[in-house]
Amino acid sequence: MATAKFRIWRGDARSGKFQDYTVEISAGMVVLDAVHEIQATQAQDLGVRWNCKAGKCGSCSAEINGHPRLMCMTRLSQLPLEQPVTIEPMRAFPLVKDLVTDVSWNFRVKEKIRPFRPRPADAADGTWRMDQSDVDRVQEFRKCIECFLCQDVCHVLREHHLHEQFIGPRILVHSAALEMHPLDTENRLGDLKRTQGIGYCNITKCCTKVCPEEIKITDNAIIPLKERVVDEFYDPLTRLFRVFR
Ligand code: SF4
Ligand code: SF4
Ligand code: FES
Repeated sequence: MATAKFRIWRGDARSGKFQDYTVEISAGMVVLDAVHEIQATQAQDLGVRWNCKAGKCGSCSAEINGHPRLMCMTRLSQLPLEQPVTIEPMRAFPLVKDLVTDVSWNFRVKEKIRPFRPRPADAADGTWRMDQSDVDRVQEFRKCIECFLCQDVCHVLREHHLHEQFIGPRILVHSAALEMHPLDTENRLGDLKRTQGIGYCNITKCCTKVCPEEIKITDNAIIPLKERVVDEFYDPLTRLFRVFR
């Protein structure tokens, strides 16, 4: 039977190192299968987070051969197996143990986004009417599985560690889903500019490239939000209108 070598990061926030494991492989295996095999037969204390094994819970995010990916959606047949497959925890978040990181920062930041504030109902039965095209626009953002791979790859968080100043692409997608909702009346533009750091994004699109749900994070969420911020704070006509208003 064929075998492959896996080089897995073992350790915690204080120290750690890569450790090699050899696993028998078969057709159709994904990286998470190999990690489970290692856990079952060679390293029962190997820390790994997963739930669905179907690319839907967003739990099994890691860095495979240096690329942020879901372990359960990465087939061994997609990887060069003549050399060891490296598996590391995400780097943008504090390490708990082995492949498990503490992603709770993302949920704390998300709580700070102003919630949905719908306009009053406009139909006699107490409901709303919306154009389907407006609904379709935000539907894309609702596909997010909160894997935080986009946060992990974003250089503002990963290399510059500006977690206090920048909310990151995932939370910008969440903000866009609310801001572009056809019924929403809240204004989040001041927060995006002043405390949520939208200006730090330089539209490199790295976040879009790693999104397993293929959300066009930069083109459809971040750039339209940036345009709204510019219109609100820097467009001379808008500023003049605000003075007279
Ligand atoms: S496009 Fe912006 S949010 Fe996305 S990875 Fe680049 S800097 Fe970060
Ligand atoms: S936007 Fe995509 S990459 Fe980012 S958390 Fe959601 S699903 Fe993951
Ligand atoms: S285990 Fe759920 S996304 Fe991988």
